[in-house]
Amino acid sequence: MTLTLERQDLMPGQQLIGAEWREASDARRLDVSDPATGSVFASVPDGSAADARAAVDAAHAAFATWRAVPAKQRAQIIKRWNDLVMAHQEDLGRLISREQGKPLAEGRGEVAYAASYIEWFAEEATRANGEVIPAPVPGRRMFALKEPVGVVAAITPWNFPAAMIARKIAPALAAGCTVVCKPAEDTPLTSLALVRLAREAGVPAGVINIVTASRERTPEVVDVWLDDARVRKISFTGSTPVGQHLARRSADTLKKLSLELGGNAPFIVFDDADLDAAVDGLMAAKFRNGGQTCVCPNRVFVHERLHDAFADKLAGRVGALKVGPASDPASQIGPMINARAVEKIERHVQDALAKGARVLTGGRRLAELGPHYYAPTVLVNADATMACSCEETFGPVVPITRFGDEAEVIAAANDTPFGLAAYFYASDVRRIWRVAEALESGIVGINEGALAAEAAPFGGVKASGYGREGSVHGLDDYVHIKYLCQGQLS
Ligand code: SIN
Repeated sequence: MTLTLERQDLMPGQQLIGAEWREASDARRLDVSDPATGSVFASVPDGSAADARAAVDAAHAAFATWRAVPAKQRAQIIKRWNDLVMAHQEDLGRLISREQGKPLAEGRGEVAYAASYIEWFAEEATRANGEVIPAPVPGRRMFALKEPVGVVAAITPWNFPAAMIARKIAPALAAGCTVVCKPAEDTPLTSLALVRLAREAGVPAGVINIVTASRERTPEVVDVWLDDARVRKISFTGSTPVGQHLARRSADTLKKLSLELGGNAPFIVFDDADLDAAVDGLMAAKFRNGGQTCVCPNRVFVHERLHDAFADKLAGRVGALKVGPASDPASQIGPMINARAVEKIERHVQDALAKGARVLTGGRRLAELGPHYYAPTVLVNADATMACSCEETFGPVVPITRFGDEAEVIAAANDTPFGLAAYFYASDVRRIWRVAEALESGIVGINEGALAAEAAPFGGVKASGYGREGSVHGLDDYVHIKYLCQGQLS
């Protein structure tokens, strides 16, 4: 079934290069399907290497003029983009839900979340202050300026089709950079709509260019950007192996990189935790987007004194979640993005059961609803040998491990190559600081499950990558520092 919007032109069905909405150079198309049914409801161009090159040409040409636009004027344009995004919240929310599968309320929420980054960076554009440095000798003045790095390649994931584009493109524009963007092959529609609104807001031709491409064609598009020295930065959100590949391939042209990669977040409930608050926090953190976020708790450790009560209460809440398509207003958990995602979840649960875990609720596909549904699941007796403890499940599965000792659980929480988010619930203030400082992760939730905010620095350590998105630091990833030294002044 086709998707009807108030503004049907928010589905241009073409990619934007320079001023022109176009087909792929060889007219190939990429089908977009509804994860709830698996059926195709739209299509976009399947972009090629030639399109990728044309996008860099356009972005490079536009850079000279965009960087010279006064910061205040850039800020006004970006702010107008934010206003247009919010004015079309309903259409954008419906697009997100349809192509990504999240319930409509979450789709609308994601639009507001995306807009919050656009608004934030509109404001930050005017604050890219440099420094006046005290000179060590008379007759000199020394300054540090922040300058835009140049053309940025933004490569975005499917789980937040609006928010991830927003938090890469908005800071790039604010800094004075121009952009070539490739959205995820599963969710290209939202990005095209956002870019259409950006043009309406006054973003000049060539400042944002977007190439849509299938999984098969993505390497040829991205290789063009990796090889082209005019692309000065890559901002990527996605898996660690792809992030490592981008870093290796960026070495020859020494691009600046922001890599927001995989996670394996621990969620620890200590014996002095407020049990009800911990259950609420886990529900909020784990079931956002059906468990398909890289900051979702992946391993849950509960102190032996609270374990049984926590597991029972959690299983009751999880078992009551309503699973269904985004189109049903009662749905709280939508379908997973595609068949590969459901297969991975199924593999993790089967592996855990084979190694001694026990299902308290869920533990099966919901084939009666459609091809990509999996029941929200709670497992107990999980341990570190299981795939669900070592790999990111990216689905609605909570594996619980019992623990007895603080040092032991911190070691277990840190026993992963990843370090994006971590959560814990406790009340003793000394423990809170001890644990917060000991956890090896870029983000720590303390008695809180909902962490995301445009004013906060989002990013990881270890194999979860580097760079920060959002916050006052988010702009730094898009600028370089130029040092000016003026002599002969006395
Ligand atoms: C992500 O899953 O990559 C982003 C999640 C968030 O913004 O909270």
